[in-house]
Amino acid sequence: MMNNLNSQNSTKHSQQIQNHYDQKKQINDNKRKESPIIWMKTINNWVKSILIKKYTNPKDSVLDFCCGKGGDLKKWKYGLISNFVGADISKASIHDAIDRNIFFDIVSCQFSLHYSFQSESTVRKMLENVTCRLSKGGFFVGTVPNANWIVKKLRSIDGLNFGNDIFSIKFIKSNEKMTDEEFKQNIPTFGAEYEFSLLDAIKPLSEFLIHFPSFEKIASEYGLKIVEKRTFHQFFYDQIEKPEGLELLQKMSSNLKGEIPLDQWEAIGIYMIFVFEKVTEPSLFNKNNSQENEVESLTHEYIDLSQIPHIKKNF
Ligand SMILES: C[S@@+](CC[C@H](N)C(=O)[O-])C[C@H]1O[C@@H](n2cnc3c(N)ncnc32)[C@H](O)[C@@H]1O
Repeated sequence: MMNNLNSQNSTKHSQQIQNHYDQKKQINDNKRKESPIIWMKTINNWVKSILIKKYTNPKDSVLDFCCGKGGDLKKWKYGLISNFVGADISKASIHDAIDRNIFFDIVSCQFSLHYSFQSESTVRKMLENVTCRLSKGGFFVGTVPNANWIVKKLRSIDGLNFGNDIFSIKFIKSNEKMTDEEFKQNIPTFGAEYEFSLLDAIKPLSEFLIHFPSFEKIASEYGLKIVEKRTFHQFFYDQIEKPEGLELLQKMSSNLKGEIPLDQWEAIGIYMIFVFEKVTEPSLFNKNNSQENEVESLTHEYIDLSQIPHIKKNF
């Protein structure tokens, strides 16, 4: 019963995400420059470019999980990769067919993983999909909201809403009878839901906190070991010190005026990068493992590579 409810909720949530991203229009470069959050978009792309460059080797095979409209394709191309597969739930994003035998050196999931933290089951399903085609020694890289920052902020304000002129976060209590203060002290490990909106990017859409210690613990069962995690602000200060980081940002922001506005800098600070290495084969895929039943009963429609549209490119 519980699994059925979880399954229904996750299907409903997936549908909402799909509708939201299906409705988003592709915008051209000129329009993009006029965006009120252009600095944030530029920094986000700069972070992704550096992350991708750092973990990509020539001839790598790449899976871009939740790739959207394939906006990161160019960044991968610079890494001289041999082939690229992008998968996304949004039908407006992509079309084509996946080669089911392919193994990847890198699986990337940018600004998307938070949608899968609805329950432990959906996290496990996502990790199963991420790791089942990732080669040993390969990397799982991504960018996600930093739950530590979000919860710290939540606990510092009255009520359950906060934000600034460009973003807003509104927590949703799973149990209405709880006071706000009780909720803040008893945030669940999975399924801690909030509505996020970002000017010129995301209309209010539910996402879930990523409790990183639990994420790392479950990821280890799938053969993944954390090798790097850093907030965007830390990452920014580290990389801007390096000549190639500074040069790339100067190039990417050459059309932009002034400095990074404070409200955009604060919104950039919501995020963090992470990198896992696949150090062993997942213990959960071992038939004798006692947790196998749990994996079997998962909602298979959730980030299931066999069912979602994808793009494929050879370079
Ligand atoms: C914020 S966009 C990020 C797109 C791209 N990775 C980027 O960095 O620009 C989030 C993407 O995740 C996709 N997504 C969300 N849940 C998904 C799921 N269960 N399976 C596949 N894609 C999903 C959405 O359709 C959307 O394209």
